[in-house]
Amino acid sequence: MDAVPDVNAEQIRINPSILAADFANIQSELARITTADFVHVDVMDNHFVPNLTFGPQMVERIQATSPIPLDVHLMIDEPERWAPGYAELGAASVTFHLEAATEPVALARRLRALGARAGVAVKPGTPVENLFDVLDEFDQILVMTVEPGFGGQSFKHETMPKVAALADEVARRGSAVWLQVDGGVGISTIEHAARAGADTFVAGSAVFGADDPDAEIQVLRALAERHRRSARR
Ligand code: DX5
Ligand code: ZN
Repeated sequence: MDAVPDVNAEQIRINPSILAADFANIQSELARITTADFVHVDVMDNHFVPNLTFGPQMVERIQATSPIPLDVHLMIDEPERWAPGYAELGAASVTFHLEAATEPVALARRLRALGARAGVAVKPGTPVENLFDVLDEFDQILVMTVEPGFGGQSFKHETMPKVAALADEVARRGSAVWLQVDGGVGISTIEHAARAGADTFVAGSAVFGADDPDAEIQVLRALAERHRRSARR
């Protein structure tokens, strides 16, 4: 069978996580990542994860100042209650956790109806097979490559078979869903995720810890392009 042209695999996206940025100088931090595809915003509620970051008011201010679209990652309980508000404030992409959602497909439909891309995230220990039949209900699947909650952790290689299984399924179904990885992604790890089939990469400390974040984005993008899974079957 001929390989189906896969628009999904054509483009690599690098989304710096502002969890690693200086929150007090968010505007100047955003000016250091002008070549980013999205700004990744980690919302944590101190319930779903043992850490607390931004709420809707802060994200609304970031949205108002950022020239780059927002990729909001909700590490929160009760996403049905809170996620639509982030779509309403104008976030381009809103990703909630499968483990926290009671009706993930209904929530994704609601986010799309509000004009956002709808994403679903899984922790390292959560299987992804249940998503296969509903892939096209989502615009992005986020496979966490660390336990959610903190930046600066080590990339968990054992999550790569899940990315590869999703990439196989995306190819088999000709789905347009993006496959995102988040946690411990940097120069020494991005190629593993790219080879497994990820196309969208979150990087916090790797980007904001660099002397020149835009140059770091360029290096990460080139590595991902070089190593990305060539032919999705
Ligand atoms: C972790 C967050 C990540 C984090 C990644 O719970 O979801 O987005 O910012 O940070 P690094 O790239 O430093 O692992
Ligand atoms: Zn994140």
